[in-house]
Amino acid sequence: MVPGLVENLPTAPHQFSNNNSVPQDIFPDGIRTSGQHPPLYDLLVPYDKFPKQIIGPTVWKAEDYTKNPERWTYVFNEEEVAELSETADVFLQSGIPLTGISKDNFPLPGLQRLLTTLRDDLLNGKGFILFKGFPVKLWGNRKSAVAYMGLGTYLGYFVSQNGRGHVLGHVKDLGEDASQIDKVRIYRTNARQFFHADDSDIVGLLCVAKALEGGESDIVSSHHVYNTLRTERPDVLKTLTEPIWYFDRKGETSTGEEEYIRTSVFYLEAPDPANPAAERRVYSKWDPYYVRSLARFSDKGIIPPLSAAQTEALQVLEDTCMRLSLHMVLDVGDIQFLSNEHVLHSRTEYKDYPAPAPRRHLMRLWLSTPESEGGWRLPFKDSREKKRGGIQVNNTKPVAPEDAE
Ligand SMILES: [Fe+2]
Repeated sequence: MVPGLVENLPTAPHQFSNNNSVPQDIFPDGIRTSGQHPPLYDLLVPYDKFPKQIIGPTVWKAEDYTKNPERWTYVFNEEEVAELSETADVFLQSGIPLTGISKDNFPLPGLQRLLTTLRDDLLNGKGFILFKGFPVKLWGNRKSAVAYMGLGTYLGYFVSQNGRGHVLGHVKDLGEDASQIDKVRIYRTNARQFFHADDSDIVGLLCVAKALEGGESDIVSSHHVYNTLRTERPDVLKTLTEPIWYFDRKGETSTGEEEYIRTSVFYLEAPDPANPAAERRVYSKWDPYYVRSLARFSDKGIIPPLSAAQTEALQVLEDTCMRLSLHMVLDVGDIQFLSNEHVLHSRTEYKDYPAPAPRRHLMRLWLSTPESEGGWRLPFKDSREKKRGGIQVNNTKPVAPEDAE
């Protein structure tokens, strides 16, 4: 759709937002991450309105790709590395804070076309890619972070990933106790991550250091999972489309917000106001850690505990994802970009090298793709905001630390 047309449409009441003018001294690019919200319940639809089968390039099987890594791997050539390097050097000399990086101050005329094609494939195609040949060891953390974030600006707007305002995340074992699931974010531990999506439209992971063993990646097309469940376990799929799931916010809430969000796992896109007959694609948003950690509320009767049907559904979903998934290993200098709309991802438990060797370390980006720039029409009130999704607590200032903190 032509962006200008969308911008001129009248704003429906549910799309009003107070997020349009923010203090520039806190948010250098003038845009605040919108954060987590409950869905617009009136836009959720019952199971019988969902498609019988999903077709198209978002539905893929592991066997389509396992033996053809060249179909989803792109190795940066010398010219592209040189362009990233020179642009990163200029940016570093400019004195602009990393949180102020944008396409405008990070020109990549050579890579731009490739990145535009890739963005479309992430949003509307298979939903994943692995870049190779990003010289993290040569550049070190600071320059790598600049080049990586600069590259990311061509795919989406970076959003805050936690209550501390981290727009450059560091996936690393900080020795936090993964069994404290109502307080600890699993990305800060070495525990297994079950299949899930992150709280953004696109997630990027740049591998800076590998584990001694484990920490490998599995991804799956949630549309293939959907079709499979529709055939094998329609009862489970129906449960996953119902807004009966409470997701923990683990204390990362702004003043006056609830500590959890009631929502579904599979949604349909919001209707297109300019074209009510337009297809509404199936969108998924899931993380079992966040629905399992709410005993502190369900024990007190504030929210219902998971029902037997829900407990079974989450296990069937995990097992189905695992069975259908594509395995991937990230080497040092690899960057994985994934769609969070229609791809679910997991990682295996891992063990680090003994000190003083570096611990496994991935730099993470959460990127937003608003509707006006080709993003999905999500059934959430912030769908039209530039930095939709993410995790934002009050006016916490965005920060881009060079390492975990
Ligand atoms: Fe994740």
